[in-house]
Amino acid sequence: MQTFSSQRSRADEPALWLGTSWKMTKTIGEALAYVEQLLTVDIPSGMQVFVLPAHTALFAVANALPQDSPVLLGAQDAHWARDGAATGEVSMRMVRDAGASIVELGHSERRAAFGETDERIAWKVRAAVDSGLLPLVCVGESHEIRVAGGARDFVASQVAAALSGLNPTEVARAMVAYEPVWAIGEHGRAATLPEVTPVLDSIHEVASALSSTGRLRAVLYGGSVDADNISELVTADGVDGVFVGRAAWDAAGMRRLIEIAAQARRLPGT
Ligand code: 13P
Repeated sequence: MQTFSSQRSRADEPALWLGTSWKMTKTIGEALAYVEQLLTVDIPSGMQVFVLPAHTALFAVANALPQDSPVLLGAQDAHWARDGAATGEVSMRMVRDAGASIVELGHSERRAAFGETDERIAWKVRAAVDSGLLPLVCVGESHEIRVAGGARDFVASQVAAALSGLNPTEVARAMVAYEPVWAIGEHGRAATLPEVTPVLDSIHEVASALSSTGRLRAVLYGGSVDADNISELVTADGVDGVFVGRAAWDAAGMRRLIEIAAQARRLPGT
């Protein structure tokens, strides 16, 4: 099975992360067709690509990825309990068993529609680490909070809450994606750098207080990332990568983003 640590032979720590959640868009067949195309893309060393299929396609995609694949696989969510009477849920060890090495937690769509609280997300982050999964915690303020000038404090408190069950060494291995709620999806607009940078600074400040290294593994930006804005985002201070929805839902779109981001960051081989 693919593991995060076995993948790290490409580079000690990737210079740039580029991941996509397919959200609820792909059957198993569609996921496999995407991966087949993605595996033909020349992914530069120094870039860590990841894909997050729906749970139903995880196992099939895991089997389609070679052991030394430059593409990491993750789940879009999982329950905090090891197992038990939680109808309709899957646990961390189940998604790990199906081939995930990353688990996304706390996406704003789940916070808004599926009762995700900071407390539950903290339980999930703890459970993810206990299962050997790399947690990718999504945080972000609503439009109302942004307009009221509270984005920095709100996001800092979300990050601190999510990581509250980890020790400093574990915090250093966690990832956070800053995804302003108003920037996500078909009604969203990508945040500008002046909007993003102060909030990223606040995330890095939380990390410096909680992490054994003073840093998180990576801090990503997400929300309406596309071929037009990815260069600016991946070269911004404090951005270790991007987390993409719609613009990467087809493999040709993902290929384009990989190529543009690699050139913008001047990664070796581009
Ligand atoms: P979009 O790129 O479609 O705005 O979605 C971003 C996102 O929610 C990634 O988790």
